[in-house]
Amino acid sequence: MDWTSQHMQTIPESGTLRMFEIANRLEAEGHKVYHFEVGQPDFPTPSNIVDAAVDALKRDFTKYVSARGIPLLLDAIANMFAARGITISGNKNVVVTTGAKMALFMGVLATIDVGDDVLVLSPDWPTYRVMIRAAGGNPVPVPTGPDYALDEEVLKSRITDRCTCLIVNSPNNPTGGVLRRDDLKAIFDLASDHDFVVFSDEIYESFVYDGLSQTSMLQIDPAMERTLVINGFSKAYSMTGWRLGYAIGNAETINNMVRIQQNTTSCATSFVQSAGVEALRGDQSSVHKMRSMYEKRRNRIVELLSHVDGVKCTKPQGAFYVFPDVSAYGITSERLAEIILRDTGVVCTPGHEFGEQCDYRLRLSYATSMEVIEEGMTVLKKYLESLEQAVRPTGTKRTR
Ligand SMILES: Cc1ncc(COP(=O)(O)O)c(C=O)c1O
Repeated sequence: MDWTSQHMQTIPESGTLRMFEIANRLEAEGHKVYHFEVGQPDFPTPSNIVDAAVDALKRDFTKYVSARGIPLLLDAIANMFAARGITISGNKNVVVTTGAKMALFMGVLATIDVGDDVLVLSPDWPTYRVMIRAAGGNPVPVPTGPDYALDEEVLKSRITDRCTCLIVNSPNNPTGGVLRRDDLKAIFDLASDHDFVVFSDEIYESFVYDGLSQTSMLQIDPAMERTLVINGFSKAYSMTGWRLGYAIGNAETINNMVRIQQNTTSCATSFVQSAGVEALRGDQSSVHKMRSMYEKRRNRIVELLSHVDGVKCTKPQGAFYVFPDVSAYGITSERLAEIILRDTGVVCTPGHEFGEQCDYRLRLSYATSMEVIEEGMTVLKKYLESLEQAVRPTGTKRTR
């Protein structure tokens, strides 16, 4: 008997993980590998947060807790928004989850029906499409301009009668682009006119640069009429392995998500939630330090890439990714990422993973040390320029 669900057959293999596996094999064989593929902060979790988890464990805070989240954390989340002038009720508008990923998946399950269209502002994190498909929906990509710039006309043109939801992610993975307040307002107005919900994945909100301030979708829709905000602790507090996230929305949506959580994961891990309380209420200087380090790394990686012939790299204003255009080489991103890894040990994620218009882009995460950035980009420059010699006869005009 074939045990494989036909439905799950529609879910593709993760190209990022494929690159990761090749990289691991090369590393195990003793090759030098430069990791730029993982969207994972390289900093340790701040010690005050670790201490709070250890204290909770010592107090035996290790049992099931409310599926909605522990009251202290629900309050801490509500207070954090209150400090930004946004009023939410911890008891009604918040659900704490095992990572932002689970918040998103529960949000999708709570919102869409089989056959619904779900718009996704693209380039996009591939997990959105997988979750939508797993729930029986159809992902509909909405292409954006450079650095995730919203094109309202394109968005309008993709809206269908079966459209229940739009997913936006600012600061964006993979482009690093940040949507402005006017863009979010335009999105909200369209959602109101066409009666769909907006999922706003704000997981990278702590990492915006150049003095820019991040606007939350909740500032545009404070009544949470048609907004579900997704966020978590993985990126801001370097807590990827702890699995802690949350969603904020209207009471009805959140109640539906709580019911899903009751019947799946039960609750987010109790002592991890205690650590989350400390993360939000404690000293924020480690977050500021990480932001300033990322900004320096961004400046450096963009500078180094801009000196590589045939690579066009803008300076994105958020998250910790760059998404250079490498179309000058005329090699699709999957193949290019593969030969770069094989020949240099530099691991990038093929742009192809992030949407249909990204076939000639590579995603590089600069959540890695300055030394790795310096060395990796030096190796990459040498390699790509030797490739460019091969694909572009000398004397022809370069695109920069
Ligand atoms: C855009 C985006 N949203 C959500 C997540 C997942 O976050 P978490 O670790 O909280 O599940 C990621 C992780 O890479 C991400 O890039």
